[in-house]
Amino acid sequence: MKNVRVGLLGLGNIGKGTYTILTQNADRISGMSNSKIEVKKILVSDINKPRDIEVSKEILTTDAYNILNDPEIDVIVELIGGIDKAYEYIKAALSSGKHVATANKAVIATHGLELMELAKKNKVLLLHEASVAGGIPIITAMLKPLCGNDFQEIIGIVNGTTNYILTQMSENNLEYEVALKQAQEKGFAEADPTSDVEGEDAAYKLTILMLIAFGVYVDPKTIPREGITKISKEDIEYASQFGYKLKLLAGAKNSSGRLKYYVYPTLVPESHPLASVNNEFNALFVKGDAVGELMFYGKGAGSMPTGSAVVGDIVSIAKCIGTDLLEITPSQPYPITEEELELTGESRSEYYINFLVKDQPGALGKIMTVLGTHGISIQSVMQRAKGDDSLPVVFILHETRRQALDDALAEIVKNSYVEKVTSILRVLS
Ligand SMILES: NC(=O)c1ccc[n+]([C@@H]2O[C@H](COP(=O)([O-])OP(=O)(O)OC[C@H]3O[C@@H](n4cnc5c(N)ncnc54)[C@H](OP(=O)(O)O)[C@@H]3O)[C@@H](O)[C@H]2O)c1
Repeated sequence: MKNVRVGLLGLGNIGKGTYTILTQNADRISGMSNSKIEVKKILVSDINKPRDIEVSKEILTTDAYNILNDPEIDVIVELIGGIDKAYEYIKAALSSGKHVATANKAVIATHGLELMELAKKNKVLLLHEASVAGGIPIITAMLKPLCGNDFQEIIGIVNGTTNYILTQMSENNLEYEVALKQAQEKGFAEADPTSDVEGEDAAYKLTILMLIAFGVYVDPKTIPREGITKISKEDIEYASQFGYKLKLLAGAKNSSGRLKYYVYPTLVPESHPLASVNNEFNALFVKGDAVGELMFYGKGAGSMPTGSAVVGDIVSIAKCIGTDLLEITPSQPYPITEEELELTGESRSEYYINFLVKDQPGALGKIMTVLGTHGISIQSVMQRAKGDDSLPVVFILHETRRQALDDALAEIVKNSYVEKVTSILRVLS
């Protein structure tokens, strides 16, 4: 049995989970990898910080290069997070011929292609299963058993924080701020939740998914996205009365060579499998031309579920060390498609529109007339009594171009009977 020595960069949530699994399940892991895997050194920012895990202080260091320059270390596991330092350390590791596993979606979405090129040049592996949907093995599934499919669509609930908040708003009738605070108290949201609630985290993950599924690199900054900070409990309640659940979706669909992608809070029909994915759980709904529809479901974050995916990568690397197996692992950088895909953000969608209108006879009819003159047809409408001078009127619109909708709304808001457009949301169709 060979010895494989690991340098862990980071002993936070995921570092602890990874270390615990490697220790707790050591026998099974050595059987699966035909190796004895030893964590030789661990990078932290503060050696004296109290930690709820038993690790000898002897192996902790605050100097990353003490690990990166150690010739005995075969595998670097990057779990510090962020972009700049993580990029620097992964690059240094690959350049010196060390394999790398990382859970870092930000660094893979931003610098992944360059880092994979470097890994290839140095004949080492760069694996990142945990970078999308934590414990759900979606990357390996797309690269291995599903690799013969032409993917048509991927829709993911890939952010546990926002899914927890939206579920709590829906089930317990909470306002956004209250649900966010609850998520923070339960450890499902960070002290600074911006990246999660504004959809940036989901955009990083979508970039990685599109790279693997469709062979295109889309800069995460250019993905059309909206977060959940403006969602009200009323919108969730009205959506539910129309038969929908509100979810933050990260999706990409190839329709005859046009790849449409987005991160949006979206109304999902209750009959769709994604509608029943609640709280901190994640799911990916995938359509391939050969396999048909698949749904992956599980914990997309957390110490042990994410550690599970990281350990899977470490075992895959350990199996390859000292063999020719590198040749048969997924080719990196992932192949870029030769098909001319037209990349497009917002195009056509069904919409949910919530107006606040004056309680005057004929107001509803006037809105319907303007929508009709712009060629927009209405699927359902609901008028809510509020007991004062204004009342919400909510529409579900058939699929329409965004430009046609914007033109119609610009005309509608000019009229005195409409106080405001309270919200515009997409509907999954
Ligand atoms: N949390 C999740 O559920 C989850 C899920 C999927 C993927 N991920 C990804 O996993 C990675 C790690 O996340 P996490 O939640 O484990 O983060 P975390 O709890 O903040 O832990 C980060 C660890 O890295 C160390 N560290 C950070 N910057 C450092 C630096 N410049 N020098 C030395 N040590 C440094 C910290 O040291 P100290 O302990 O001394 O502070 C800490 O041990 C991120 O890329 C994240 O996106 C996380």
